[in-house]
Amino acid sequence: MSLQDYDLPHVFKYHCFVCCQQRPPGHPRGSCGAAGAQPLWEHLINKVQAMQRTDISITTSGCMGFCSAGPLMVVYPEGFWYQPKTIQDIDAIAQSHLVEGRPAEELVVVLKQ
Ligand code: FES
Repeated sequence: MSLQDYDLPHVFKYHCFVCCQQRPPGHPRGSCGAAGAQPLWEHLINKVQAMQRTDISITTSGCMGFCSAGPLMVVYPEGFWYQPKTIQDIDAIAQSHLVEGRPAEELVVVLKQ
């Protein structure tokens, strides 16, 4: 079997993974959910839908391993990790990275090696 044997979707220009892990209050690891992630991701999803950008995918994910830095999202293909804290941060990431094609450097937390 080869890749041609599958009905694969087109490749997205940008694929965003957003951490939706929720741990209870006071959990020693914390979580993106406990750090207020959900309304941020909802805003991002609504924003991308409003832009009618079918070449951008947003996938909810479980823990990505850096919980205390949450809320965390990663944008591929570049692999930039972002730590948005506010709706304005989401707007900045969407405009800078997803529309203009340049990272929102002030919100990057980990750069791909
Ligand atoms: S809970 Fe989001 S990175 Fe671990």
